[in-house]
Amino acid sequence: MTSLQGCHNIDSLARLAQRYLPRLVWDYIEGGVDDEACLVRNRQAFDGVTLMPRYLVDVSSLTLSRSLWTQTYAMPLGIAPTGLAGFARHGADLMLARAAQQFGVPFVLSGAGTASIEAAAQAAPDQTWFQLYVSREQRITEDLVRRAAAAGVQHLVVTVDVPVHSNRERDVRNGFVPPVKPTLSAIADALCHPAWLARFAKQGLPRFESWAPYAGEGASARQIADLFTSQIPFTQTWRDLARLRELWAGKFIVKGILHADDARRAVEVGADAVWVSNHGGRVLDSAPSALSCLPAIRQAVGPQTVLLVDGGVRRGSDVIKALAMGADFVFAGRPMMYGVAAGGQAGVAQALAIFQRELSLGVAQLGGWGSATHTPVQDQGL
Ligand SMILES: Cc1cc2nc3c(=O)[nH]c(=O)nc-3n(C[C@H](O)[C@H](O)[C@H](O)COP(=O)(O)O)c2cc1C
Repeated sequence: MTSLQGCHNIDSLARLAQRYLPRLVWDYIEGGVDDEACLVRNRQAFDGVTLMPRYLVDVSSLTLSRSLWTQTYAMPLGIAPTGLAGFARHGADLMLARAAQQFGVPFVLSGAGTASIEAAAQAAPDQTWFQLYVSREQRITEDLVRRAAAAGVQHLVVTVDVPVHSNRERDVRNGFVPPVKPTLSAIADALCHPAWLARFAKQGLPRFESWAPYAGEGASARQIADLFTSQIPFTQTWRDLARLRELWAGKFIVKGILHADDARRAVEVGADAVWVSNHGGRVLDSAPSALSCLPAIRQAVGPQTVLLVDGGVRRGSDVIKALAMGADFVFAGRPMMYGVAAGGQAGVAQALAIFQRELSLGVAQLGGWGSATHTPVQDQGL
């Protein structure tokens, strides 16, 4: 069986994670909405882009580091927010945070995270960003924002692409939809994963830790989850977004934008960055790939607005492609979940190291960042 150190690419890390995890958790991480066409489209978009190399250039002292606002990161790749990470491995959010701190890349704690904002900010004081799902009750939203600021978080990511629940059929089949009630076959499968099961049995059900204070003292994981699902998803509007912008003094990032006009409007509302994303193919199956939306959005917002992107990034070359198509910084979700499931913090570090190695080879082979130009092989139909 391949060891963590034997995983030389993200795909092998995924296979290791899949072996460790019961089907219920693997499907939750890996799955997409409906027919999973958007999930496939995200990957195809990268495969459909080529990069033009330039030679006879000195590439002996290239750097991967990239600045965003006042901070410099080790490379232009961060850890996207992933809810319920604690199901992959107990303490997963803090493992992700610590690996990000170790590498010098951003870690975005999910609003559905299984560590609290305060714990994540403590684990990665320089790297923790907080992703917010706006809740039905304004007092909860406002308190989460206040707590993030008090914990020293400087980047707030507001996810706008989940107005209602999405139909992730793998989760439906496994009984991993609220109120969670695993099917007999999912339970039987979990019993065949003793390493995962032993940890899970010892540590108990992961909780939406940031939400614990709103569920009342002594609330169980189930009660906190019930509160969470009664509050989210909530259909927010531009007015809600503008109000949030006023509440937050730090960098304000709007995640889940695909339309150029929405990107422009987010900037008008005061966004410091637009995060181009289709939620990793988990929300609207007919949505375009995030990568294909980048050029139009870059054109709409101009060169000054920071553009982030995610969805299907599995190779260092994907990061280069996204940057060549207009992004300033790239994020990955599932690859980091594979890492944390396969090997905890060391597994996340392995995922980041794989990306870093591929990136440095790719940039050198292209003759430097500046020369990377793209050629879309297929028109994704913007
Ligand atoms: C298991 C899982 C949970 C996720 N949870 C959240 C979340 O809580 N908030 C959010 O904004 N995005 C969430 N996302 C979307 C990611 O932030 C990101 O947009 C997506 O994973 C990028 O695609 P990739 O997995 O192909 O890298 C989640 C994605 C996955 C795979």
